[in-house]
Amino acid sequence: MSEHIHKVTEEWAKRALIDAKTYQEWYAQSVTDPDTFWGEHGKRIDWFKPYTKVKDTSFAPGNVFIRWFEDGTLNVAHNCIDRHLPHRANQTAIIWEGDDPSESKHITYQELHDRVGELANVLRNRGVEKGDRVTLYLPMIPEAAYAMLACARIGAVHTIVFAGFSPDSLASRIEDAGSKFVITADEGLRGGRKVPLKANVDAALKRVAGVDHVLVVRRTGGDVDMEPGRDVWYHEAIEQVTTEAPAVEVNAEDPLFILYTSGSTGKPKGVLHTTGGYLVYASMTHQYVFDYQEGDVYWCTADVGWVTGHTYIVYGPLANGATTLMFEGVPTYPDISRFWQVVDKHKVNIFYTAPTAIRSLMQAGEEPVKKTSRASLRLLGSVGEPINPEVWEWYRRVVGDDRTPIVDTWWQTETGGFLITPLPGAIDLKPGSATLPFFGVKPAIVDSEGKVLEGPAEGNLVITDSWPGQMRSIYGDHKRFEETYFATYPGSYFTGDGARRDADGYYWITGRVDDVINVSGHRMGTAEVESALVAHPKVSEAAVVGYPHDIKGQGIYAYVTLMEGEEPSDELRKELVAWVRREIGPIASPDLIQFAPGLPKTRSGKIMRRILRKIAEDEFGNLGDTSTLADPSVVDDLVDNRQNRH
Ligand code: WTA
Repeated sequence: MSEHIHKVTEEWAKRALIDAKTYQEWYAQSVTDPDTFWGEHGKRIDWFKPYTKVKDTSFAPGNVFIRWFEDGTLNVAHNCIDRHLPHRANQTAIIWEGDDPSESKHITYQELHDRVGELANVLRNRGVEKGDRVTLYLPMIPEAAYAMLACARIGAVHTIVFAGFSPDSLASRIEDAGSKFVITADEGLRGGRKVPLKANVDAALKRVAGVDHVLVVRRTGGDVDMEPGRDVWYHEAIEQVTTEAPAVEVNAEDPLFILYTSGSTGKPKGVLHTTGGYLVYASMTHQYVFDYQEGDVYWCTADVGWVTGHTYIVYGPLANGATTLMFEGVPTYPDISRFWQVVDKHKVNIFYTAPTAIRSLMQAGEEPVKKTSRASLRLLGSVGEPINPEVWEWYRRVVGDDRTPIVDTWWQTETGGFLITPLPGAIDLKPGSATLPFFGVKPAIVDSEGKVLEGPAEGNLVITDSWPGQMRSIYGDHKRFEETYFATYPGSYFTGDGARRDADGYYWITGRVDDVINVSGHRMGTAEVESALVAHPKVSEAAVVGYPHDIKGQGIYAYVTLMEGEEPSDELRKELVAWVRREIGPIASPDLIQFAPGLPKTRSGKIMRRILRKIAEDEFGNLGDTSTLADPSVVDDLVDNRQNRH
């Protein structure tokens, strides 16, 4: 494969905070002497009580613990707001761009302080205390950031549920977290369409008990039911309180948030992040990877419902005193130039999005991009899934006018921040490669037996030592945490991703090696979609795999076996798609359903997904060994009937 290398330009080497020499020196120290390295860089944030200990971590089987800066105390909202006030009170903290292009506003650090203070008081007055969990089910409006920071201010733990999830998904997350407080909006607004958030909360709360308060932001003014005693309007509640709320002192290892994410088995896991190490890591990665400098306007297009929104819309940028743009809408509304119109409108310097968005915009050609200026853009970023080299080149040439570097940042909900990523003034770029590890990160490639492979190699990606932003546990289930991440390759954190390392030591992420698929940059457990399908009265069995999809990266392919007596039909297919949307949310909609009288199983009854993946990928010449199947004829039927997938 020919590799086109984009060298660090002289201009970038000069202007960037980190050049090649600094990267090498710092990286070497960070992995040989993490205590000194992080002891120094931990000071980039404000501590109420400084730490005296830095790293105290173990990946040992049966005894996994991760503690950073463990005797220090701090407050995240103080770090993201108060400490900036002496010199940034009137600087814009958040630029909010509405779904409707005529709606936008600038929120200064002083205003952010006041809004967060009010909301913190509203929460406190209703009994929310340090350590309590608060569920946020909100659209991309500034109140989402206020709510996160208000929780942090009083030491409460937020758990955001992406506003595209169904009432059922919301209910199970509220239940697992044990939240007594929910913050939502009347409706969300995306691409001109309304999303019934409050109605979804009402439906969820019919299924789960224990929520005493629902605070409702008025976004659209749409009609909603308000249950007396439980539901309160945000705009009314804040009238009763002052804007001053003390930033509570919390320990570095007190929880900051829980975020649910899909795994290869069972229900979503509550990924638990704590305070000190997370904030140090979020702010440091944000500053150096985006080379964020004074006055820059930075835009990450993610949703706060995902980890990217947590770390790189809210916590990283605000901890750095940055101006961060928050976008309520979608890339295609009112038209397909929207991203670039917003870039021009707000003079965005740093733009960070997902490959799936670039791929869909690419289909419309260059004109919708080229008719905008984009002169303010200096740096582009990519996240969420592997970016194809052709897409990378298009992104740079067309969007970046052949001038901007692209940082392809590899990381996960579990990692809190970037692990493998370029630094634009230090690392030459190869399109499609996330390049080299960030400070303190020790990646390794192992084979299926766990043997560490040296030099150029391909295999499974593990991380052999802890970094400050790492998740600390699965909420309420430390055992599952150890089993999920540390049992496969004892002594290492297993990422679930495959990777290749080339002769220059560059990493190329090849995608998930477990039963997690990546649909438009959204992480989805195939097991979740399967359980939704089998919950349908006409379905007896289902197996779900990913298949290559031009725009989404991966699409959802479901093999469905019906109950005795049920007949396949297009109507039933539609019904099943609607059913999954209702059970989980639109992001889980199957793209293709193939009705299958039987699924390929081993004699012990295990579904052989390897075969199903191959058929979904149209690689049936290459099905591998089918001799262990209980009934090999099942496979022929699946291959013969694959035209019937829709
Ligand atoms: C994938 C999103 C290739 C990967 C931040 C990972 C990527 C999963 C990249 C985590 C990238 C994320 N290149 N693959 N730059 N970034 N991934 O938890 O498979 O939603 O394991 O976190 O996305 O998804 P998650």
